[in-house]
Amino acid sequence: MFPVTRMRRLRMKEPIRRMVEETKLAAADFIYPMFVVFGADKKEEIPAMPGIFRLSTDHLVREAERVRRLGIKAVILFGIPEIKDEMGSSGYDDDGVVQRAVRALKEHIPDLVVITDVCLCEYTNHGHCGIVADGTIVNDPTVELLTRMALTHVRAGADMVAPSDMMDGRVGSIRRALDEEGFVDIPIMSYTAKYASGFYGPFREAAGSVPAFGDRRSHQMDPPNVREALRQAAADVEEGADIIMVKPALAYLDVISLVRDRFDLPIAAYSVSGEYSMVKAAAKNGWIDGERVMMEILLAIKRSGADLIISYFAPEAAEILARQTS
Ligand code: PBG
Repeated sequence: MFPVTRMRRLRMKEPIRRMVEETKLAAADFIYPMFVVFGADKKEEIPAMPGIFRLSTDHLVREAERVRRLGIKAVILFGIPEIKDEMGSSGYDDDGVVQRAVRALKEHIPDLVVITDVCLCEYTNHGHCGIVADGTIVNDPTVELLTRMALTHVRAGADMVAPSDMMDGRVGSIRRALDEEGFVDIPIMSYTAKYASGFYGPFREAAGSVPAFGDRRSHQMDPPNVREALRQAAADVEEGADIIMVKPALAYLDVISLVRDRFDLPIAAYSVSGEYSMVKAAAKNGWIDGERVMMEILLAIKRSGADLIISYFAPEAAEILARQTS
C-alpha cells in the first residue's frame, strides 16, 4: 500500500526499466516476407509499401544476405509468376519462380531458414486461392494442387512450408505427401486463423492477386469469430501442423492471446501489408514517430503471446535492436 509501495520506483531509471522489462524483442523472433519475380536485375518498389520490393533472384539473394547478417533467421517467399492461368499451374512447376528462388537462397545462404507460402492466388488468372467451378472455390481438387505445390517447394530445398489458402484438410494432405516422399522432418507452419481482412490490400497489389470477382469470405475466417479460431487450431494440430499462425496481427491480438493460452505449439503472428502501410503513410506525413510506433506494435504482438512475428518491418526493427544491445 502507498506510501510503502511506490510503483514509480522501478520506472525512474532507464537501466532499471530495462532490467524489469517483461517482454523482449529479438531479431530471431522475426520472419521476413519477400516477393520474388523472374528475370535479372529487377528491383521494383511496391508503391503502397515503401522499402519493400519485388526482387529478381539475384537481388533477392543479396537482400536476404543483408537480412541474415542482421540476425534474422528466416524469410517467407511469395512468387509473382509471368504466366497465370485457371489452374495456377506455374505455382507447382519445379522450375517456377519460387522454386528457383529457393534453390538460389539455399545455395548462397545455407543457414537461412527458407519458408514458402503455399497458395494458388498469386498464380491463378482470377486471383482466387483455388480452382473455381460455378463461381465457387472447390475444396478437395484445390487441396491436391496445393499439396503438389508444397512438394515442389520442398524438393527445391525449402526448410518449411506455410499453407495460406484456408482450404479444409490441406495441412493433413501436405503432411502425408511430405512423409511419403521422405520429408518427414520438414515442418508445416499453418496459416490457421487467417481472417478475411481489409488489411491485405497492399499485398494483393504487390502480388497482383486481387480477386477478379467475389472475395475470400468462403474460406478465410470471419472477423467476429474467435472460438472458431480455436476449433481451426485444434484441427490443424491434429492434421500435423508444427507452428500455428494468426493473421493479421494488430487487430487480432485477442486471438493470439487466446490461442497462446490453449495450445503449446509455437505461435506465429503475421503483421500484414496494411499494418505496414498504415505506419509508413502516417510517419511520412509526420503524424506519428514511425520507428517508435513500429517497435510498439511489434512488442504488442510478442506480448500478446506470439513467438514468431512475420513482418515487413523485420530488417528495420532488427537494426534498432542491434543498436540497443549495448
Ligand atoms: C495468400 C496470402 C495473402 C497474404 C499472405 N498470403 C493474401 C490474401 O489472402 O489475400 C497477405 C499478406 C499481407 O497482406 O501482407 N497467398
